[in-house]
Amino acid sequence: MISPTILITGGAGYIGSHTALFMAQKGYRVVILDNKKMDCDWATSIQGDFSDKDILNEIFKQYNIEAVMHLAGYIEVGESVKKPLKFYTNNVSKTVQLLEVMVDNQINKLIFSSSCAIYGIPEFLPVTEEHPKNPVSPYGKSKLMVENLLQDLSETSDLKFVSLRYFNAAGAVPEYGLGEQHFPETHLIPLLLHSAKTGKPFAIFGTDYPTKDGSCIRDYLHAWDIADAHWRALCYLNEDRPSGFFNLGTGTGFSVKEMIQAVENVSKTEIRTIASERRTGDSPILIADSTKAQALLKWKAKCSDLETILRSAYIFDNQLRSKNIIEPNETIII
Ligand code: UFG
Repeated sequence: MISPTILITGGAGYIGSHTALFMAQKGYRVVILDNKKMDCDWATSIQGDFSDKDILNEIFKQYNIEAVMHLAGYIEVGESVKKPLKFYTNNVSKTVQLLEVMVDNQINKLIFSSSCAIYGIPEFLPVTEEHPKNPVSPYGKSKLMVENLLQDLSETSDLKFVSLRYFNAAGAVPEYGLGEQHFPETHLIPLLLHSAKTGKPFAIFGTDYPTKDGSCIRDYLHAWDIADAHWRALCYLNEDRPSGFFNLGTGTGFSVKEMIQAVENVSKTEIRTIASERRTGDSPILIADSTKAQALLKWKAKCSDLETILRSAYIFDNQLRSKNIIEPNETIII
């Protein structure tokens, strides 16, 4: 009998790579399917599209796949507003194709990477799973569409799923060379570290929000805690528990201005800032109620204090710079 294997789509990406390492450390054999090659010794990396039926059939034939963790997808909210079809094709249509091959091969467990973006502008805080779903971007809508189709499919097939609605993923595991790195980079923490390093001004997107200091508030969660939730979600499904949707966050929010201050403390550098326009698709405040994940998945954020998140991101950023693989994005940093 071949050892149980987890297929992770998007396993070479930011959260996927942390999840792959976490699952390998839990004793699973890990197969990564990603457009990008993942150079690591804890997983088998297959380069390809996650909707490619030939590749998927081959993987399901060759390995004893216990579950699929589906993290591949486009993530940038602003881009989704400009290019909705790109997001619906990749995040929705291709996921349908993945599910078709899974059903054909009787692969019946899926952990899906969803997002707090499905809620839109919060009507109450912290946001529970029952909060109305009114996504304000095609990105958020694409995640909600997949959640709805998983629900429908699970009612008429053997598919069991857990959908994890992450709030703001952050932090790094520099010991294994893992961290946040997107091209182009649009995310707050890498951009703040870049400003701290280069002295280039950091643009605060909106200073007139109805929050304590006028800047947006987010619930930042370490990628390692998110990886842990994937493992727990699989344990939950293996206990034959019902499919479901779970928020993942700490329950504490930090404003952009507080994050600037915190990065200044960690980097011991003053960051120059400029007040910029609000960014389309941004919600003023997002804070998770993760009581359900704590109760049913037995999950709890363990390394998501701001100090751990920022210190790990800072070390990872230094690693990238020493390898000279940082590509400063002149269009983002003004
Ligand atoms: N921000 C700035 N300036 C920047 C970049 C970001 O002020 O140069 C602000 C944003 O406006 C936001 C906060 O920093 O208020 C965090 O922004 P990120 O881009 O880091 O993260 P988002 O909250 O936009 O996006 C994340 C995930 C998405 C997810 C979304 C839900 O990347 O996948 O949370 O809101 F859908």
